[in-house]
Amino acid sequence: MVGADPQVVARIDPDGRMEMAWSDDPCGHGVCVDFRRVSLRGVAKSALVRACGGRGRIVDATAGLGGDAWLLSAAGSDVCAIERSPIVLRVLADGLQRARDDARMSVVAARLELQDGDAIELLSKLRGEWTAIYLDPMYPPKHGSALAQKSIRLVRAVVGDDPDADALLLAAAATRTQRIVVKRPHRAPSLLCPPDAQIESKLVRYDIYAGAGRGLRTLRERAA
Ligand SMILES: C[S@@+](CC[C@H](N)C(=O)[O-])C[C@H]1O[C@@H](n2cnc3c(N)ncnc32)[C@H](O)[C@@H]1O
Repeated sequence: MVGADPQVVARIDPDGRMEMAWSDDPCGHGVCVDFRRVSLRGVAKSALVRACGGRGRIVDATAGLGGDAWLLSAAGSDVCAIERSPIVLRVLADGLQRARDDARMSVVAARLELQDGDAIELLSKLRGEWTAIYLDPMYPPKHGSALAQKSIRLVRAVVGDDPDADALLLAAAATRTQRIVVKRPHRAPSLLCPPDAQIESKLVRYDIYAGAGRGLRTLRERAA
């Protein structure tokens, strides 16, 4: 059992899967990564995939439990997903390994690579050209809203609110990528400066900093 926080643990559930749970949850009542449950309906035309510019080589610098990275891989991209929380990474890596071992998912899983560490440091060290860098930092919970999903509450209890999201955006801008995408709640302001484009979905907004746009230029100047 591994515990990064006194209340949250990663442990093996009765089905042999790594789960993340509150320490007083009965075993098997935690959250594990099971990519079979991710709906891929309409994924190629989804707001996430369009925001990232369609198929390409994408860095997901905030992997979390891998839902977005999986969708991007399923849409045909090669994805490098970076996660700095050891406990979150452990649960994600376990789910990805099971997907690799499952003939129905192995093709998608083969396009998804995990990196352990802080993307603020790792982005400058990644080799090759990346068509997009995708960021989905945690944001503070909305007051008065319905209780967030258990997976979100557990991840938040372990990683907090990602207060260095601006630094991560600048680290992305310091690379040669031509597109940076930031997922934001509808109510939240953009990070650092206005984006060059936005794509809205029902639940979230994607801020896009791209190409010769003023937003990406401003970020590059601030990152220099
Ligand atoms: C909101 S969650 C991401 C959810 C993810 N998009 C998904 O679909 O499951 C944010 C995650 O990004 C990670 N994170 C935030 N900043 C990071 C950084 N600089 N380097 C690596 N991971 C980071 C956090 O530890 C957390 O697990």
